[in-house]
Amino acid sequence: MSASNTTWNPELYTEKHAFVYNYGESLVELLAPKPHETILDLGCGSGQLTALINESANAVIGIDKSPEMIAHAKDAFPHICFEVATAEDFSFSEKFDSIFSNATLHWVKDYKSVIKCMFNNLNPGGKLVLEFGGKGNVQTIVNQLKTSLREHGFLQQSELNLWYFPSIGEYTSALESEGFRVVLAEHYDRPTELADENSGIKDWINMFAKSFFEGIPEKMVEEIKTEVQEKIKDKCLINGKWYADYKRIRVVALKED
Ligand code: BEZ
Repeated sequence: MSASNTTWNPELYTEKHAFVYNYGESLVELLAPKPHETILDLGCGSGQLTALINESANAVIGIDKSPEMIAHAKDAFPHICFEVATAEDFSFSEKFDSIFSNATLHWVKDYKSVIKCMFNNLNPGGKLVLEFGGKGNVQTIVNQLKTSLREHGFLQQSELNLWYFPSIGEYTSALESEGFRVVLAEHYDRPTELADENSGIKDWINMFAKSFFEGIPEKMVEEIKTEVQEKIKDKCLINGKWYADYKRIRVVALKED
């Protein structure tokens, strides 16, 4: 779940962004881990879903690019194996029966390497169960953020492209090109309620989009975040609660025998 240069704050993540793993519980239901299965949780973050998978599987390993998140996960769930590793370049001596990934793959632009890596680390007959941001994800927030940055003269920052939000066609075609058979594919709207009634969008930006503010004086950062939140009020503040305009891709695919 990590961006290349993002340092994660596990406390802020757990305190205000628990929705990331709360929503992931339905993806674990889709995974339906079995007592004989060995499963990889790719981009495990602070490990809550890894622990849930572990309740039903034979074994689970959680990997994440962020050393801070892995340290937090190990502390919280010392009986589970967690390792620092990247999604586009991981390798284990034993292959997995399933690879699970929630809210991670949009952080990795080199999606072809990720798909290759997942294929190479699955047993024949193995299963992928993935969910991440799809085309149009958080568009309202990001469009306004880029507009505000540009209007305040921060052109370079406004052109940053942090994420990979593919269309369903692009992503399932890439899976098929690698040899997967896609058995379920959805691209759906999931407006996501943010925790804080006063600073919901600002908190989201603090947690996930800090990189846009590199090189900008702190006073301006605050001003721009406040402006972004104010300008998207009409779309994102509903009955006194803030929502992020999430669009998810959910995919199940099999590595044929
Ligand atoms: C997401 O889960 O869709 C997401 C999270 C952080 C940044 C961008 C997208």
